[in-house]
Amino acid sequence: MYKLLRSALFLMSPEKAHGFTTSCFNAFCAIPGAAPFLSSYFHVKSPHLQRNVFGIEFPNPVGLAAGFDKEGTLYKNFRHLGFGFIEIGTVTPKGQPGNPKPRMFRLPQDQGLINRMGFNNQGLEKAVEKLKNRPKDLIIGGNIGKNKSTSNEEAVHDYLTCFEGLFDFVDYFVVNVSSPNTPGLRELQDKKPLLRILNALQDQNSKKLERKPILLKIAPDLNIEQLDDIIAIVEETHIDGLIATNTTINREGLQSPKAATGEAGGLSGMPLRIKSTEVIRYLYKKSKGKIPVIGVGGIADYASAKEKLDAGASLIQIYTGLIYEGPGLIKNINQQLAAAAENEKRH
Ligand code: FNR
Repeated sequence: MYKLLRSALFLMSPEKAHGFTTSCFNAFCAIPGAAPFLSSYFHVKSPHLQRNVFGIEFPNPVGLAAGFDKEGTLYKNFRHLGFGFIEIGTVTPKGQPGNPKPRMFRLPQDQGLINRMGFNNQGLEKAVEKLKNRPKDLIIGGNIGKNKSTSNEEAVHDYLTCFEGLFDFVDYFVVNVSSPNTPGLRELQDKKPLLRILNALQDQNSKKLERKPILLKIAPDLNIEQLDDIIAIVEETHIDGLIATNTTINREGLQSPKAATGEAGGLSGMPLRIKSTEVIRYLYKKSKGKIPVIGVGGIADYASAKEKLDAGASLIQIYTGLIYEGPGLIKNINQQLAAAAENEKRH
């Protein structure tokens, strides 16, 4: 069914298709009875799916990755598709338009996407408005970044502003320093600037009545030495975990026409699968499983989801797989995870 819809959607530009699908979906959910119907169809309830990670009880381990609901306009209805959690953002202090269009490109032969959106979002204030009446039974992550106009030296203020502004409205935070589409952003993954940002956030966090988990989202393009630095930084700052990974700037082994693969931006989907799993496995082994990791990158079926969990991820997230496989993917993964766990228990 989704594959049929997909052929029609793929006639539109990727960004138009995203806007069209999400508007239609929101309109559908406004029909009385539609949301409960979707919930009962897509939600897989099983004690085998529950996970307690960084102090939060997740109903299942499959989440919506950042970038899909940048402004908090979709999570209320997308939660009916069976996600265990939804991450909104990246939110920046001020609204910004992002890069000129076109800025998202499909690579159908590779089941990938290239995007150079550039943190287009309406800014912190608007995001807070959208989160004010959030359902309490949904776990929401707040992915935070800096404005393009903010220098790296001043970046810490942008992260602190977003942290303070979103604090009462999200369940966990993600510090995004790994998008390839804001010039110079990934330099913030270096030890010195990263320590400055994370220590500042943790200082604020410790002043709260109840602190919230802070995770760091990293690029798949870091080398071993940089990954070791990241592990040392997590241990030193006592942040709660990592998200591995963001999109890649690597273009090796792609089958799609050069016109698409030559576009600047971050590559996601199937071509990212192995690389991000390798990063997760390395982080897990090197930290002796002490750092919770959310695995993301190229999950498009049960096998690729299981691969991330087997590599050491405690939870997983999906973006591009949703475009190629449709929302049935979430149910499919959860059903198979629950069945596998049930099987294991029996033997
Ligand atoms: C993203 N991603 C992303 N990540 C993030 O931390 N902040 C963001 O704003 C965005 N924006 C964004 C836009 C688009 C169009 C895509 C495709 C991706 C990255 C995303 O959350 C995820 O880390 C990667 O896409 C890898 O996962 P998938 O897509 O292979 O499942």
